[in-house]
Amino acid sequence: MPDTLNPTAGHVRLGSNAGQPMSRRDGIAKVTGAATYAADNRPDGLLYAVYAGAGIARGRVISLDVEAAKAHPGVFEVMTPDNRPPLALDPDEKHHFFAWRTEALQNDSVRYAGQPIALVIAETLEAATEGARLLAPTYDEQPARIGFDGGEAYDPPAVGIGGNPTFEKGDAEAAEAASAKVVETKIATPMQYHNAMEPHAIVAQWDGDRLTIDTPNQAIVMARGGFAAYFGIPPENVTLRSPYLGGGFGSKAILVGPQLLCILAAKLTGRPVKLTLRRDQMYGPVQHRGATRQTVTLGTDGDNRLTMIKHHAVATTSSFDDFIEGAANASQNTYAAPVLQSSHGAVRQDTGTPGPMRAPGEATGSAALEVAMDRMAEEAGMDPLDFRLLNYAETDPASGKEYSSKNLRECYAEGAKRFGWAGRPLAPGMMKDEFGRLKGWGMGTAMFPAPMFHAQARAVLKADGTALVETAGADMGQGAWTALAQIAADGVGLHADKVEFRSGTSDQPDGGVAGGSGHTATAGSALFAAGSDAVAKLAEIAMKDPDSPLFGADNAGVEARDGRLVRLDDESRSDSYADILARAGLSEVEGSGTGARNPADAEARAMFSHGAVFAEVLVDPDLFQIRVTRLVGAFAAGRIINPKLAASQLNGGMIWGVGFALHEEGIHDPRTGRPVNGDLAGYHVPVNADVPSVETLLIDEEDRFVNALGVKGVGEMGISGTVGAIANAVWHATGTRVTSFPIHISALL
Ligand code: MOS
Repeated sequence: MPDTLNPTAGHVRLGSNAGQPMSRRDGIAKVTGAATYAADNRPDGLLYAVYAGAGIARGRVISLDVEAAKAHPGVFEVMTPDNRPPLALDPDEKHHFFAWRTEALQNDSVRYAGQPIALVIAETLEAATEGARLLAPTYDEQPARIGFDGGEAYDPPAVGIGGNPTFEKGDAEAAEAASAKVVETKIATPMQYHNAMEPHAIVAQWDGDRLTIDTPNQAIVMARGGFAAYFGIPPENVTLRSPYLGGGFGSKAILVGPQLLCILAAKLTGRPVKLTLRRDQMYGPVQHRGATRQTVTLGTDGDNRLTMIKHHAVATTSSFDDFIEGAANASQNTYAAPVLQSSHGAVRQDTGTPGPMRAPGEATGSAALEVAMDRMAEEAGMDPLDFRLLNYAETDPASGKEYSSKNLRECYAEGAKRFGWAGRPLAPGMMKDEFGRLKGWGMGTAMFPAPMFHAQARAVLKADGTALVETAGADMGQGAWTALAQIAADGVGLHADKVEFRSGTSDQPDGGVAGGSGHTATAGSALFAAGSDAVAKLAEIAMKDPDSPLFGADNAGVEARDGRLVRLDDESRSDSYADILARAGLSEVEGSGTGARNPADAEARAMFSHGAVFAEVLVDPDLFQIRVTRLVGAFAAGRIINPKLAASQLNGGMIWGVGFALHEEGIHDPRTGRPVNGDLAGYHVPVNADVPSVETLLIDEEDRFVNALGVKGVGEMGISGTVGAIANAVWHATGTRVTSFPIHISALL
């Protein structure tokens, strides 16, 4: 086996624990209720906070009946802009690239419906809830600006997090004029809300100028620094505990106003305070995905090869901050077009500020691009898969760089085979099931960048032959606590059972962000490096010890295997970790490591995960009800650390795609600006009945450049191919092209 399939670092080798389909190590704790989520914490003397949300979308608060709230039995204090303790940072300032302008009772203005306007703190949740109701605010109301037509258009300074709003390669106008065929596709996507199962919750306690917070967060050490900055204390004075998250999807990556309010309330009252958002409070202060209106223009030459991709996207944001869904960027890295043009516009409306949500940019942009590609295949009279293969990008279209790896061709082939794509009729409306329902098959390309961020880790080999390995990573439910532990165990050359893997609190080394589908790559690299460092120190001790069987072996000649170091020149000679430490009189040996991409590789190569998603839908010929009956996705994402968890995440990603295509839609009343469907009864997400068959195939892919582990990422790409695949299947069933998501029955009438 070539070494690249089992990367080594020093004396350790990946591949004993990594690669195994282990079940979630925290699964039992989660399903039995033993796992402590943020809201499960009940420190002594706890007070409960409930905030009152604005009943208008724009204007000012004129009055609050604070006296009535305070008079209610059990109410301890009411926090308003008049008595709220000071913050060291202005929440209206953009003081960090990963911080949003937020609302922490800094004044009486209202910028969206549901915005916190006062906080009631009480001995019980019930008293706080009733106190908040008794505040009976009055307002100076201004008309709400909602939607593309109601809001104010402007040119955004950036898209996503600091991305360029425009991109140009070649002359799009000239390419369009010279094309044999040109097809323009318009797609609209709605506001969407993350809707993690666990609402944002926080328990805050002060001890002098030391702060302890229990709150779910996707980037724990960064969040610690953020909270510290808001309160003007050193980061080391803050302990942030986030061992379990009930989902995040991007909504728990940044700090949000309600968290600051809870910490302020703890300061104001001198007691621990808990604030748990209600489900309806998730539709405002904790981000969403902005709505988009997109136009994708494709050109082809006489041989049906793409001559250009032009993609323009307009996205909604709030009146006071600038997170713009980078939808048009998705067209830059997917198909081999010599000319590319992406551009973005934005519209301000009176809602909360959007943020990253489940493949921000790629999910929305690829939905439009894949429908556009399907229409062009139809124009060409070609099978949609053949058309994509004809326009396969051998190098990254935007940068011209070689890919670090790209096994998309095999994804197409294996996915198509598993799905049974061959023989699909080209024309729509040709297939029916035994009940006369219209059957359609569609496909889409899944694509997502394979980033690495920065992380650190620590590994301690102990005298009893076990190890402790830690990094402040975040398990959002995706299985990080398991997959990272597998890498950590390989890093220290032990079976995972012998390794205590700690994660999820801020007193551990910075585990980076669980986002961008880069957590396993980044935190995993740090963990592997930390273990390798500890084992190297141990090997050095042994090789200098005349009593060790390893005495005199040079560094390269020793390898860690299940708690022993083995001489490679004579495998009968080995020494156990425990014996090495005992003879040296040491209780432990410690190593540290960092995870970050090699800058030269990052510069030289384009790095993406890829996949192909195939969808079958059945459409009732009378009622036009759409059912997604089958989804098959084949994905290549470098080395897969845990095939069970990776497939689970990709299945989940495809299910997000079903939600995007058919269900999810955040609706605000254009007259009041209020969310109309701010609960899980009105905001629909797929349930089991909506996803009868979802299947992930993991396609082998060796990548020597992304990082030493060869790991890319699987978190978000599943949604990117699925939305278009479903829309294209709906066309194949009905002959009607999708122009907006979610696909409403009325669009098919
Ligand atoms: Mo994600 S939307 O990178 O948390």
